[in-house]
Amino acid sequence: MTELPYVLVLYYSRHGATRAMAEQVAAGIESRRGIQARLRTVPSVSATCDAVAPDIPDHGAIYATLDDLRDCAGLIIGSPTRFGNMAAPMKYFLDGTSELWLSGALIDKPASAFTSTSSLHGGQETTLMSMLLPLLHHGMVYAGIPYSEMALLHTTRGGTPYGASHVAGTASDQPLDENERQLCHAQGNRVAHLALALSASKES
Ligand SMILES: Cc1cc2nc3c(=O)[nH]c(=O)nc-3n(C[C@H](O)[C@H](O)[C@H](O)COP(=O)(O)O)c2cc1C
Repeated sequence: MTELPYVLVLYYSRHGATRAMAEQVAAGIESRRGIQARLRTVPSVSATCDAVAPDIPDHGAIYATLDDLRDCAGLIIGSPTRFGNMAAPMKYFLDGTSELWLSGALIDKPASAFTSTSSLHGGQETTLMSMLLPLLHHGMVYAGIPYSEMALLHTTRGGTPYGASHVAGTASDQPLDENERQLCHAQGNRVAHLALALSASKES
């Protein structure tokens, strides 16, 4: 049996809000036939030289490898907003992908990004833009969320045309509301659709 192509959902989450989004994005990918989601996380980083975390995460997905990235048909990255930017662990992981950049492994694959903040105007869009930059350097085709997704018009919390987002509250304990959930799902579904279409066009 041949293995299905997959969209890699690569996220970092300290308190679980971004992880909850990743799970909904993965559900959106898996709502398409002929493709699957692969959920992976990245390790924390520390300013000290000692190891700060176990080799296997206590909860959530296992850590991503460069092979997970190299072989994906599409990529969706998720990070909490930190000072209006992606979190250092995601940036650190991406900074270790030069080998894939050199070989052009991600060129013409679809990509997208999602984020969670504590506050409503706490920098979701700047964070999504910061996450777009390395994806473009890798030659990926960035896909946001079109306004045909009605939840984009109705949301009073997260959700942007640049990618899904979530307002988790100051304690990072607010669940995704229905609009935020739908937009995560739509983002996964769209990237899965593009991944199938772009890989088919490469073969023709
Ligand atoms: C160092 C640091 C910086 C942060 N900066 C912002 C920020 O700029 N805007 C904001 O709304 N929330 C900010 N937050 C809050 C997180 O984005 C928010 O709690 C997020 O939902 C955490 O996601 P997680 O549950 O996946 O870890 C910051 C948190 C930390 C620890």
